[in-house]
Amino acid sequence: MSTGGNDAAQRTNFLAVEDLSVTYRTGSGDVPAVRGVDLAVAPGTKLGVAGESGCGKSTIALALLRLLPSTARMSGRILLDGEDVLTMKWGRLRAVRWAGASIVFQGAMHSLNAVRRIGDQIAEPILLHEQRTPAEVRTRVSALLEQVGLPQQRAAAYPHELSGGQRQRVMIAMALACNPRLIIADEPTTALDVMIQAQILRLISGLVSDHGISMLMISHDLSVLADTCDRLAVMYAGRVVEEGAAHEVFSTPRHPYSEALSAAFPRIGDPASRRRPRGLPGDPPDPAALPAGCSFRPRCPAAQDRCAETDPALWRAGAERRAACVHVLSDEQAVELGVPPAPAAPSAAPPDRPANGADPAQPEEIR
Ligand SMILES: Nc1ncnc2c1ncn2[C@@H]1O[C@H](COP(=O)(O)OP(=O)(O)O)[C@@H](O)[C@H]1O
Ligand code: SF4
Ligand SMILES: [Mg+2]
Repeated sequence: MSTGGNDAAQRTNFLAVEDLSVTYRTGSGDVPAVRGVDLAVAPGTKLGVAGESGCGKSTIALALLRLLPSTARMSGRILLDGEDVLTMKWGRLRAVRWAGASIVFQGAMHSLNAVRRIGDQIAEPILLHEQRTPAEVRTRVSALLEQVGLPQQRAAAYPHELSGGQRQRVMIAMALACNPRLIIADEPTTALDVMIQAQILRLISGLVSDHGISMLMISHDLSVLADTCDRLAVMYAGRVVEEGAAHEVFSTPRHPYSEALSAAFPRIGDPASRRRPRGLPGDPPDPAALPAGCSFRPRCPAAQDRCAETDPALWRAGAERRAACVHVLSDEQAVELGVPPAPAAPSAAPPDRPANGADPAQPEEIR
């Protein structure tokens, strides 16, 4: 999935994020929120980005269209259809927002203007980006409302007259208004109740598929992304720690953090596990005070002594699969990369081990 400067891959991916880093400057020092992230989305495909709160997901979403506050310092490249968003002139950037790529945020109530009718709000990007008569714009707004399952008369409503799910449908209509080639959906259903979440996810997913739009869908919930996306990138402490085909990352995770996330959500939108997946102790580290070695080490059930001195890169972990964990390395690969060797296997299984010799402390995939 990484483009890694490969020209052919850059041409075939509609979105290619290369070595993106974002650091916020604050009064109490620098916060390295995103650290050297590579992502890619092929035309018409869906990439899911997962991870607990604070892992850097929204920072990436905002960086994609240069919507970050001025305190954010960015480096790397964000290629949208081959053009680098980070070096685009303002005029070009304005044209790309909405028409090239658009964003659906989590809280529709905060994103919509409370004192303007929703029909006018959906019309706004169309008026800004396209030469259309008022009658054409009205027709387009009606068609968009219909696509998102709202009656066209709702164009006259104010945001407070709609339910949370209806407001999120309006946000989706706005995101579709200028026929973008990429939709970025940042936790688009988190604020909604579980039944409505499923409806809205099906709606977004169906619409992007029908229109051949690419999508980058962000969620803390791996099961949501596994249902919706083609590929998955799991983030931890500002980095991608695993990526691969969505169903494979979800069903046979290779990184202990993905394993914890995939076990954490028995059903879509379990609100209690938003901040801390079930069974995973502690919290993600403060980006300004990362532990030495692997950032996941303090919480990792499979950690070894060598993890304290190894900062794992995204190593190959199967066909089109990568994971940032020492357990995906063979002994030979570890030697080649200068990673300390795995501890020698014990000569006999301790008496409390299961009969098959499996170590219950280690996830099955990395034994
Ligand atoms: N404007 C900001 N100024 C300083 N730090 C920020 C700012 N926005 C986000 N952060 C920090 O950056 C890290 C990543 O945040 P964010 O991208 O919102 O993560 P996520 O969307 O995965 O929850 C967090 O530690 C957060 O506190
Ligand atoms: S490198 Fe070590 S600490 Fe990090 S995820 Fe793998 S086993 Fe756990
Ligand atoms: Mg976020």
